[in-house]
Amino acid sequence: MEHMAMAVIFFFFIILYLLCRLSLSCWVFPFLTHRRLKKNGLTGPSPSFPLGNLSEMKKKTNTGSSSCTNSISHDIYSTLFPHFARWRNSHGKVFVYWLGTEPFLYIADPVLVKKLSTQVSAKNWGKPTVFKRDRAPMFGNGLIMSDCLKAMVSLMVETTRTMLDTWTTQLRNSDTREIDVEKSIRETAGEIIAKASFGISYQSDHHVFEKFRALQISLFQTKRLLGVPFGKFLYLKQALEASRLGKEINQLDQQGSFRKALTTQQLVDECKTFFFSGHETSALSIIWTMLLLATNPEWQNELREEIREVVGDNKELHFNMLAGLKKMGWVMNEVFRLYPSGPNAQRQAKDDIRVSEDLTIPRGTNLWIDIVGMHHDSELWGEDVHEFKPERFKDDINGGCKHKMGFLPFGFGGRMCIGRNLSFLEYKIVLTLILSRFSFTMSPTYCHCPSTLLTMRPSYGLPLVFQPLD
Ligand code: HEM
Repeated sequence: MEHMAMAVIFFFFIILYLLCRLSLSCWVFPFLTHRRLKKNGLTGPSPSFPLGNLSEMKKKTNTGSSSCTNSISHDIYSTLFPHFARWRNSHGKVFVYWLGTEPFLYIADPVLVKKLSTQVSAKNWGKPTVFKRDRAPMFGNGLIMSDCLKAMVSLMVETTRTMLDTWTTQLRNSDTREIDVEKSIRETAGEIIAKASFGISYQSDHHVFEKFRALQISLFQTKRLLGVPFGKFLYLKQALEASRLGKEINQLDQQGSFRKALTTQQLVDECKTFFFSGHETSALSIIWTMLLLATNPEWQNELREEIREVVGDNKELHFNMLAGLKKMGWVMNEVFRLYPSGPNAQRQAKDDIRVSEDLTIPRGTNLWIDIVGMHHDSELWGEDVHEFKPERFKDDINGGCKHKMGFLPFGFGGRMCIGRNLSFLEYKIVLTLILSRFSFTMSPTYCHCPSTLLTMRPSYGLPLVFQPLD
């Protein structure tokens, strides 16, 4: 009997302890953070418990299933992020919103981004825990980089030529001259990064890529409740599916898809980070460029002319030639500006961070730096902000932006993208080879509906009509 009473008391204290922890993490800490943010003048749309501002965010976010239009406008911000556009109207370029019980400081103000990057040491910023946990099946804990770019030129040329040969065969065998280039450019970029970094190939290891894609869709297309206490359990099926796919990718290591040297979990995580961070962003920058060149044929001609001048009759492309492709560099930057394939950068304050006399960001606050928002801000770029004008980058690496932190296609500070040189190289090689062999226009079947699934992509592919150049 005595033992029974002891067990009941023990059980009672365990429950009490769990309830205390729960109320601390779900109510008390978020409430205190809310108060501290408010004291610093940081307010925003009113959150509700336990969803925060999620219900408003989920209302009309463009995840691809919504509006599709044949007319191509680059004024995409309010369709992509209607909630941010609304909140910006009422709260300005810096405000607080809540994903469940997780506070996010939204920033589309380059002056504040500069302060965060210059006045605060990079080691004070981490990655948001809420995303790290949620995306663990995708990225694991990886981050490394190799840098033998010159050696990659021939690999990139060879892989791109294979894609173009396939296009040529496809055109020969079809009456329409139409190809949806989205998938093949994505596969080619995947092939390049896979071969360059890990010695695996898309052809023989396409199951790896397919699983990555399935995982990405499972994590980003569902209406999950990120940041909401126990939100995972309400969408258990999706969470289990993501975890299963993540584990299956890890298993591929043991089946020999990754090279012998990459045997530990940590190295498999590096591969995951690379695939996600690298191949899709690079592919999308080329895909959006194809769209912008198809709708601006005068720029196709300009670039073809430049390629003729720089590459001449050379049968082979060399690393040193690529620096001469200046106009291609302007076009690339203008595409990064209008359609940044990495649409935002995220941080989390590891400690209370004093940014200036009147601003302290409380520990645990997440930052959401809105890259698309800044790239589409007419106050920073002028009234022609939504027009495709590569010449704005002619004499200015910031494209005439009023603040140099207003143009951040690769992020900023200590966590800036480490793959940017690799992507410049890939961009110039793939585009040079495409433009040398084909001219192209938009297909009437194209639907303009950019959407975000971690990266920014065309929701319904990119069908183009091709003309081979002989
Ligand atoms: C056009 C191509 C690319 C774009 C637009 C892009 C953009 C970005 C952006 C915006 C970030 C976040 C930076 C920040 O938080 O300040 C990032 C991070 C990163 N990028 Fe890229 N990137 C590209 C290509 C690549 C490539 C080719 C690789 C690898 C080979 C790569 C590897 C990474 C890694 C490892 C990170 C850090 C990821 C993390 O901390 O979770 N990126 N990139």
